[in-house]
Amino acid sequence: MSEKSIEDLPGVGPTTAEKLKEAGYRDLMSLAVASPSDLAEVAEIGEGTAIKIINAARKEADIGGFETGDTILERRKLVGKLTSGAKALDDLLGGGFETQAISEVYGEFGSGKTQIAHQLAVTVQLPRKEGGLEGQVVMIDTENTFRPERILQMATAFDLDPKETLQNIRVARAFNSHHQMLLAEKIAEMAKDTPIRLVIVDSLTAHFRAEFVGRGALADRQQKLNTHMHNLLRIADIHNAVILVTNQVQAKPDTFFGDPTRPIGGHIVGHTATFRLYMRKSKGDKRIARLVDSPNLPDGEAVFSVTKDGIRD
Ligand code: GTP
Ligand code: MG
Repeated sequence: MSEKSIEDLPGVGPTTAEKLKEAGYRDLMSLAVASPSDLAEVAEIGEGTAIKIINAARKEADIGGFETGDTILERRKLVGKLTSGAKALDDLLGGGFETQAISEVYGEFGSGKTQIAHQLAVTVQLPRKEGGLEGQVVMIDTENTFRPERILQMATAFDLDPKETLQNIRVARAFNSHHQMLLAEKIAEMAKDTPIRLVIVDSLTAHFRAEFVGRGALADRQQKLNTHMHNLLRIADIHNAVILVTNQVQAKPDTFFGDPTRPIGGHIVGHTATFRLYMRKSKGDKRIARLVDSPNLPDGEAVFSVTKDGIRD
């Protein structure tokens, strides 16, 4: 992976670099996925220069080019599937949560998003023949809902060594959206010498939603979310990892017309996430997950339970 910083790009002098950083463009990836007009505006440069900077960043970050179908097929052969602990849910996902992709779990409070995050942090450590990926976990916790006690229960249920299981999970509290993005950028570094196979961001959108309020802040919020998602996707590709992000739902003003809830972050999150699971509460411990907009799987629903041992059929 490239070690270059944004100052190393042609066309980026100290002044431009400063302006870009102030606007949240701190690494090559953020520039690689930026739009020329946004960049031109924040850095006060011409659009031509902006395009040159973006192209240089894409080259350095090694994204945005064409690949042949067989190369992509070779990479797809490495795709792993991570079990959720519930067969019905795995089946809905075509065998489990896929590596090299972002899975978004969204739904109302108490629908089980954080429970799934905990469960995957345990199952990812299982041997492959048991549905795991024999890997370790990084969790970005924005709402202070990580509970080691819950991991202990779930690990014990799978006959894993509880202490070792906890040692394979690295958790960071993100204090705001800026910090959250920085933490995600750090994961690439960490993954160089640790087999990270699962990255969790719980919640992906809470800070963004709280900090970027009103119509005027929307473009800025979406641009930052876009960069953040692409950074995560890159980790998924390079390290053959599962990325799990959680998202809350917001009430639509026009609840009369169909589904009264929709995920926060709208199409930016939706287009970058490969799998989207909409979760809702049912009777007692039961939860219903619905697969929304998958590229190669039929839409459908699965019922599962949240139990003391974790996610189960
Ligand atoms: P928000 O983050 O608030 O949006 O909700 P969430 O979707 O993350 O909900 P979460 O995953 O935290 O689900 C919480 C629910 O899981 C609780 O209301 C319980 O119903 C269930 N739950 C949590 N721990 C246990 C447990 O140890 N046993 C059982 N049976 N259920 C549990
Ligand atoms: Mg939660």
